Amino acid sequence: MEKNKPCRTARRPGQTIPEAVEELLAKMTTAEKLGQMYQSIGADITTVGTTQVKEPVEELLRAGQIGSMMQVGEPHDLAKRIRHFQDIAVNESRLGIPLLFCLDVIHGFETIFPIPLAWSCCFDEELIRQAAATSAREAACCGINYIFSPMVDIPHDPRWGRVAETAGEDPWWGSRVSAALVKGMQEDGGVMACLKHYLGYAAAEAGRDYNTVEFSDSALHNTYLPPFAAGVKAGVKSVMTAFNVANGVPAVANRPLVEGVLRGELGFDGVVVSDYAAVMELMEHGVAEDEADAAEKALAATLDIEMTTNYFRRHGEALLNSGRITMEQVDAAVRRILTAKYELGVMDDPYRFLREEEIDSTVYTPEHLAQSRTLAARSAVLLKNDGVLPLAKDKKLALIGPFADSSDLFGCWCCSTRKAEVATLATGLREKGFDFTVEEGSGVQQPIEGGIERAVAAAKAADVAVLALGEDDQMSGEACSRMNITIPECQQALAEAVAVTGKPTVLVLTNGRPLLLNWYDEHMNAILEGWAPGSEGGRALADLLAGDEVPGGKLTMSFPWHTGQIPVYYNELPTGRPFVEGTDEHFQSKYLDGPNAPLYPFGYGLTYGRCVCGAVKMSGENLAPGETLTATVTVRNEGSLPARETVQLYLRDRCASLSRPVQELRGVKQVWLEPGQQAEVSFAIDEPMLRFYTARGVWASEAGGFDVMIGLDSRSAKQNKAGFTLTAGVQE
Ligand code: BGC
Repeated sequence: MEKNKPCRTARRPGQTIPEAVEELLAKMTTAEKLGQMYQSIGADITTVGTTQVKEPVEELLRAGQIGSMMQVGEPHDLAKRIRHFQDIAVNESRLGIPLLFCLDVIHGFETIFPIPLAWSCCFDEELIRQAAATSAREAACCGINYIFSPMVDIPHDPRWGRVAETAGEDPWWGSRVSAALVKGMQEDGGVMACLKHYLGYAAAEAGRDYNTVEFSDSALHNTYLPPFAAGVKAGVKSVMTAFNVANGVPAVANRPLVEGVLRGELGFDGVVVSDYAAVMELMEHGVAEDEADAAEKALAATLDIEMTTNYFRRHGEALLNSGRITMEQVDAAVRRILTAKYELGVMDDPYRFLREEEIDSTVYTPEHLAQSRTLAARSAVLLKNDGVLPLAKDKKLALIGPFADSSDLFGCWCCSTRKAEVATLATGLREKGFDFTVEEGSGVQQPIEGGIERAVAAAKAADVAVLALGEDDQMSGEACSRMNITIPECQQALAEAVAVTGKPTVLVLTNGRPLLLNWYDEHMNAILEGWAPGSEGGRALADLLAGDEVPGGKLTMSFPWHTGQIPVYYNELPTGRPFVEGTDEHFQSKYLDGPNAPLYPFGYGLTYGRCVCGAVKMSGENLAPGETLTATVTVRNEGSLPARETVQLYLRDRCASLSRPVQELRGVKQVWLEPGQQAEVSFAIDEPMLRFYTARGVWASEAGGFDVMIGLDSRSAKQNKAGFTLTAGVQE
């Protein structure tokens, strides 16, 4: 079919989307309706699950029994394969309903951006939105119209490999990032975004992926829900249910959670899709007898699309005939799916996302690579620096480690075919004109024969050693939980040997989660957390090392001091017996053998300047609903180099109907300060910022005293306090 030629599902002039949906729905057979609820993979299907049924995908498309497809191809053949399948659906099925084509475009399509945990550290919503928009545009011209992102889970456990895909541990910042990503993908990129994983997936016990989850009603609303609420408010069109149980019932079949909270409380009226084969997993969880039972329970929870399982399609008619499900339930789901398709524009023009002629000028362009480089530089976090950084160009370097010249800089979830072109750290330093030798020294997980000896010799011959260590692409992401979140032993041995040379040593990290870095904090002269930085990673890191970019990233997830502390996060609840440093009272909430505090707290990160934050000044003592108070600090760069700082506002509700966190981030402001320069930074505080899900089960603020803390990280902010009183609470 020719592009832009009206197809059979196109609206007539003046026809509204609801009218078009109802007209189409009335023409559909039951099989066609159930087909819309099935998302297949782009190959002849072997049903995932207990029954292995081979089903020819093209025949099903002709029969109008597939509504959307995933895993259709690689970037290089995606457009061709999507066109092929769309042609069949549009031209050869009875009603010609176009398909949705889905992909996990998590942090880039061909141009790869830093992983989400990294980009969350830049504290710049605009840059994050741009990355999402660019990724969506690259994928969209190849035919992708439905992206399984953003992941908005709130993690507290760095053993869980999927922390790499999150925006870190803070619900407020996570909500800002959620909205930025949804807008970037939908408003700028034109595709349908998908908030995932609803709900509580990151709370997997023991940090083991897919494991059981327990959370209270307060944690549900105050911790896990806000980023979903923000994404829904930003207009997200789809939500994916999580694999885990919540209150004993897997999310995909959890009616109170999906129909009650998501659709009811949040007012989400878009498409709910299951996670991969999650409907089948209802049997593994022990809450469904068989496939039909699983389909019935998922539909009861208002699931619309089954990802890769086809139980609605295969058992729907029988379930309808026996009265176990109703046509109203099916119609409601199909109505939502068709509405999303109309809103995306594919019903009027099934090929609007297939713009093969634009691929070359849209995908992996110099502009996109430049965006990726900037974001990677802004996402890196300087964890330590005794002054060795930035590196002077006249110093001879020894670049040592498995990530010295490695292209393993993409991190998890990467569909890009351009890995061979990635800018390694060696490339970046070479382009800057540094004089250096490269020694791998060790593999990522295995030693290299003679590696350490050669690395030590190189370090001895140099002025400064740059150690490039960390985790490779396979060590974080889905199903990549680790018990020991350390730098692997063989790399540790390499680092120890290099440290013994006494040469100033800079550690540059590539990894997808917070790591245990105590030894490095003690023995390295500088530590630059580069994360998995993407296509331009090596260049971005070299920009920072050379001082052509000034580090400004701040951690969005605490780096534990010991795995025994996990979960350790900044916005914990107070205990009845808080630990007070320096006292010898025994009955306090503490460890006998180590500190409570993480090594590097939330919000922490250095810059090349050295900023000092002055005392908090409040514009008044009382805050009434409808009014605003201002909290102001003066930030001064007392260093000899420029500073990129993120000033952070934290609040604490001192006494409420529920125990409230010791600190909650409520504002960030970024400043650039030349040496000796200072700036006044102010935050407006109003009543809506103080609302939470209370003991009465409503969103409200409660009158009383609040602490205001401002600083350059969560820990230092605790020491810089003022306060005010909210004169009256307000209920939503
Ligand atoms: C993951 C989802 C992803 C889906 C489709 C699942 O295993 O949990 O995040 O979107 O696969 O690839």
